[in-house]
Amino acid sequence: MTEKPIGFTLCDQDIVIVRMRGEISVFDDLCPHRGTRLSLGSVKETKDGNCRLECPYHGWQFDSSGDLKLAPQRPDLAGHLRASVRKYQSVEKYGMVWVCLEDKPHYPLPEFHLWDDPSFHYVAVPSEDWACSAPRRVENYTDYSHFAILHDGFLGDATVPEVPAHEVWRNENKLENKQGEGAWVRVPIDTAAWGGKEMPTDPYIRFLVDWRVFMPLTCVLNILFQDGNRYNLIFHPTPMNAKKIRNFTVATRDFGDPAQKDTELAGFVKFIYDQDKAVVESQRPEELPEDLTVEMHVKGVDKYSVEYRRWLLELSNQLAR
Ligand code: FES
Ligand SMILES: [Fe+2]
Repeated sequence: MTEKPIGFTLCDQDIVIVRMRGEISVFDDLCPHRGTRLSLGSVKETKDGNCRLECPYHGWQFDSSGDLKLAPQRPDLAGHLRASVRKYQSVEKYGMVWVCLEDKPHYPLPEFHLWDDPSFHYVAVPSEDWACSAPRRVENYTDYSHFAILHDGFLGDATVPEVPAHEVWRNENKLENKQGEGAWVRVPIDTAAWGGKEMPTDPYIRFLVDWRVFMPLTCVLNILFQDGNRYNLIFHPTPMNAKKIRNFTVATRDFGDPAQKDTELAGFVKFIYDQDKAVVESQRPEELPEDLTVEMHVKGVDKYSVEYRRWLLELSNQLAR
């Protein structure tokens, strides 16, 4: 049984993702013969048990290193063919494929230790494309002061819009954030819809939220409810180009009925994303302004965003050298 190759555009680069003998390989989505998209092709198993990616046009076959192994019109040349398709480093982890378009990754892969914790139920939330830049979306994901307003009744309470005291600091490749103890986010239970969460007997559901961004674009959120239940997300807004992303999310929880997790957990995430989508897609300029003075920042409120922008700019200057 072989899987269909998947075509994707990552940072304007067309790539093809293919599973060959269980292992993921990622190549340029371009046949060196006549420039056809290899993602239109298929994976073929050879008689000796190997897998090849076959171009749909003339049937050239490439192995998992990207080397051309067969041009069916001249089978006598097998073993003497020099052509190859560029292969990129990739890792399959947390239910996602991580690809490096450069020769060497600048940072290690993000960490999501809970992935191996059997007490959590996981849901790969269906991905969806948004017309925005990836950093704008990361900033949206980690923006404290919109929770109580845009997500009133779900992630906060519009009658308590103040942002709790919180710390923001760099830790290796992460920008971390933590609220002070006791800074519980409060959501009235008459509107709260925490998929599958048992509601407490008092009129509010309360939780603490902390997060980190594995620079430059991966968000990991941990939410602790007052009753000890936990809910987490790993989120990566993958840049297809400067103004288009695909939202990849894996959500986890250690409460509720595992049989209902897809409906409840993915449904809740989708509901929140729908509230954010129109707002984020409307932001102009689409990309975060490099000059911090172009937009306004409120002291103690927009601390995380400001630090994120500063670090992103440093990185971009450093990598442009
Ligand atoms: S274009 Fe791919 S084999 Fe000819
Ligand atoms: Fe939001």
